[in-house]
Parts: sequence; C-alpha cells; structure tokens
Amino acid sequence: MSQSTLLLTGANGRTGRAVLKSLSSCGIAVRAFVRQSSQAGDLKGLGAREISIGDFLDAESVKAAVEGVSKVMHIGPPMHPDEVEITRSFIEAAKRNQVEHFVYYSVMHPLRREVRHHRLKLEAEEALIESGLPFTIVQPARYMQHLEPIWRSVVEEGVHAMPFSIEQKFNVVDLADLADACAVVASSDRHLYATYELAGPQALSQEDMARLIAQVLGKPVTAKQVSWEAMAEKASRAGATQDRISQMLVMNRHYDSHGFRGNSNVLEYLLGRPATRFNAYVSALHARDLESASSS
Ligand SMILES: NC(=O)c1ccc[n+]([C@@H]2O[C@H](COP(=O)([O-])OP(=O)(O)OC[C@H]3O[C@@H](n4cnc5c(N)ncnc54)[C@H](OP(=O)(O)O)[C@@H]3O)[C@@H](O)[C@H]2O)c1
Repeated sequence: MSQSTLLLTGANGRTGRAVLKSLSSCGIAVRAFVRQSSQAGDLKGLGAREISIGDFLDAESVKAAVEGVSKVMHIGPPMHPDEVEITRSFIEAAKRNQVEHFVYYSVMHPLRREVRHHRLKLEAEEALIESGLPFTIVQPARYMQHLEPIWRSVVEEGVHAMPFSIEQKFNVVDLADLADACAVVASSDRHLYATYELAGPQALSQEDMARLIAQVLGKPVTAKQVSWEAMAEKASRAGATQDRISQMLVMNRHYDSHGFRGNSNVLEYLLGRPATRFNAYVSALHARDLESASSS
C-alpha cells in the first residue's frame, strides 16, 4: 500500500504518456493503469513506479487499481460512448478509498453539447463535483500535436489539410505544456476545487498554421479543407468504429461552424512561463527531422 501514489488512467495513450513523463519528473509516484502487461516495460521506462492492468469497463479492475492510492488522474479514451459510466466507476472507487484529490482530464468548453464527447465530459464533471471528492478539472483545447499524423505530407507535398474550414480559428495548445500543467495541479492542494481552461496563446486558422509552417520549412505550404467523406474513409481504413467516425464528423462540422478559441492565461499561470507558440512547436518538429537526416 502506497499512500502517496497517484493512479494515472489512459497512461499508455498519447496524452497519458506525456502526462506520465511530467508527473514522474516532478517526483510524483505514479501507478499506471493499462490494458495489457506488454505495455508495462515502456511505461516503467517513462517513470511509472507501479503498473495496474485492467479495463475501464471492468469494475473489479477499476476497484483494484484505485486501492491504496491517495490521488487519481483520470484520462478517459477519446469520444468513448461510456465516458460518464467509466468516470463514475473511478469516482465511486475513489470515494471508497478516501482519495484526497481526483483530477479529471476533460475538454475545453464541455458545454458545447452538440458534440457528444463534450456533453459526456460535462456530465462526468457534474458527477465529480457532486461526488464530494476534492477535485480539479482540467479542460484542454485542441492539441498542436494533431499536426504530427500529417507532418510528412505537409513537408513533402506542401499541403496542410484538415477536415474543417481553413479560416476558422483554434487556440491549439502544446501537449507538453498540458502535461506540465497537469503535474503542477497534481503536486499540491492549491488547485483543489478549481476548473481550469487550458488553451494555447495564439488563435490560428489552418491558413495561419500553413503560413507559420512555411516560414519554418522555408518553402510554400498551402491550407486545404479535406472533405468529410475523405476523412471518414481514411478513419475507416485505419480501423475506427462507425460510432467514432460519426462522432468525428459531428466534431469537425462543429469546428467548421464555430472554431475552438480559448485563452492561455490560466495555462501560463500554472506553468509560471509563457505557453509554447506554434512556430516553436513546428521548429522542434523540423529540427527532429534534420537531426535524424544527419544521423542516418
Ligand atoms: N486530442 C485533443 O486535441 C484533445 C483535447 C482535449 C481533450 N482530449 C482528451 O484527451 C483524452 C485522451 O486522448 P488521447 O488522444 O491521449 O487518447 P489515446 O491516445 O487514444 O489514449 C487513450 C488510452 O485509453 C486506453 N483505453 C481505451 N479503452 C480502454 C479500456 N476499455 N480500458 C482501459 N484503457 C483503455 C488506451 O489503451 P491502449 O493504449 O491499450 O489502446 C489508450 O492508452 C480523451 O479523453 C480526449 O477527449 C483530447
């Protein structure tokens, strides 16, 4: 039994791995909740002290994972139809174990209820607040890291393509900043009962992003809107479920009409430094390419 341990869920995911690195570099003892034992080695390499193997939908494994920890940081799977039930099962287990701090990884503007996963995160936030547990809710904006799956084609073809309007603005945020902010939140009691919107410092359209990428690469990059049909086809080829594809369509239609703008003041308050700007993030991606080209 380790009273000062934090249980991190979704630990093997894109967000979970970044958060795990930041938590462990702050000296926080992390128990990582994963689905498969084969994931343990990697996560120990990122700093996890303990591994708990289970499934979000299996109440027994959730109970066992929460046993003996003093803090929980719950990062649910993206666009999952059972977000509320999954979060409730961690909340119930946390109450039974008298957990001292429950951090819920939500999304910016969960009140945009037209988008199902926003609405479900809103309901999960409500369940947490009403549970009586000491909580912090973090509400991140869209990640800058959505560039990475298309980075090769941006570099090689000079086209920055996303499935929504090239003019709508987004305060994209660096996942590494979010992870550091999560570690700050989990490190002390100062953030109990707070809800924090975490957005990046610039409101950028796809056209703005293409211009900034072009400056870093030193060659032209244009912005293009991918059709929803092409997006659905690509997601289907990648093995996404029909439910996931239909939710991606809902989200992208919503972005197309409304964008996703926020403010970086709170993130900068938590980090104690300016938030990462898009050109710095892109410069780091480009530097990584140059380094791997020179070492091969
Ligand atoms: N992307 C954004 O811009 C953004 C912005 C704001 C908020 N968020 C939120 O961030 C969260 C994490 O997103 P992500 O992109 O990091 O997701 P991800 O990479 O898909 O990671 C999700 C993790 O959950 C695990 N998982 C899925 N189903 C599970 C189950 N039944 N039992 C146990 N573990 C399970 C997966 O395990 P495996 O590794 O075994 O598959 C994976 O490690 C989501 O809630 C999302 O809404 C994302």
